[in-house]
Amino acid sequence: MTIIDGKLISGQVKAELKQEVEAIRAAGGKIPHLAAILIGDNGASETYVASKIRSCEEIGFTSSLVRRDSSATEEEVLAIIDTLNRDADIDGFIVQLPLPGHINVDKVIEAIDPRKDVDGFHPINVGRMAKGLPAYISATPFGVLELIKRYQIETSGKHCVVVGRSQIVGLPMSLLMERNDYPGNCTVTLAHSKTRNIKEICLQADILIAALGKPGFITADMVKEGAVVIDVGLTRVEDPSKKSGFALKGDVAFDEVAPKASYITPVPGGVGLMTVAALMHNTLLASKKEIYG
Ligand code: GUN
Repeated sequence: MTIIDGKLISGQVKAELKQEVEAIRAAGGKIPHLAAILIGDNGASETYVASKIRSCEEIGFTSSLVRRDSSATEEEVLAIIDTLNRDADIDGFIVQLPLPGHINVDKVIEAIDPRKDVDGFHPINVGRMAKGLPAYISATPFGVLELIKRYQIETSGKHCVVVGRSQIVGLPMSLLMERNDYPGNCTVTLAHSKTRNIKEICLQADILIAALGKPGFITADMVKEGAVVIDVGLTRVEDPSKKSGFALKGDVAFDEVAPKASYITPVPGGVGLMTVAALMHNTLLASKKEIYG
């Protein structure tokens, strides 16, 4: 059994990006510029955005943070997006989710210029990805693909079971694992909360991707001997022994599942760390105009 090391791989990806930015700087080129919009005071969002800004600094990107409190109106958020869409120095930007309940998230995402949508959430990027056209691939699925690639895990002809059908992870993950590419060429089953015989389906998986947000849901009796297990879950659960008061828990009961797996990602230290690296990768693509020219 091999534990997939997200810290190692995300460090490699970031080091490669840093090298590329240094070369751009040396040649007098445009330094990639990422902006983040953060609305409200969600603790997890604060942490994620801080980590994105910190990564920009480490890699040598320019970054901007636009903050508003939770009373910001939808019109105000749309106006910020309009400004960033028009700002020629901003290569890409993200709107950190979740947004306060009075703001329509679909409307907000659709207002982002798809050429600057480095989160890959805009319907144009999702649609292009589904068709196999060049597109920004959202951070978590991209991070999973990169881990599979860098560990040279065989995917062609395998049965991949994705558990969870979220717009951000499960749905794009299932499309990417079935496409005619590497990683890909899997026979994909997308299981979700209404799936009846979920245990039997999971037991058929050569590659099991858990992305449902239920800590410890995948137990050893649901995993085939030798399966590749990718845990996308990242749920905050109260833990008084931690300074922060919470611990991050994955969807897989790691201790019991790991002995059966050929490869497994830990939480924390697995997929989560890859997501920021993926966003940085997309920002570099945006600044080089590699997707939309
Ligand atoms: N909230 C949770 N994950 C993400 C992400 O990848 N991007 C944004 N913008 N918000 C998130």
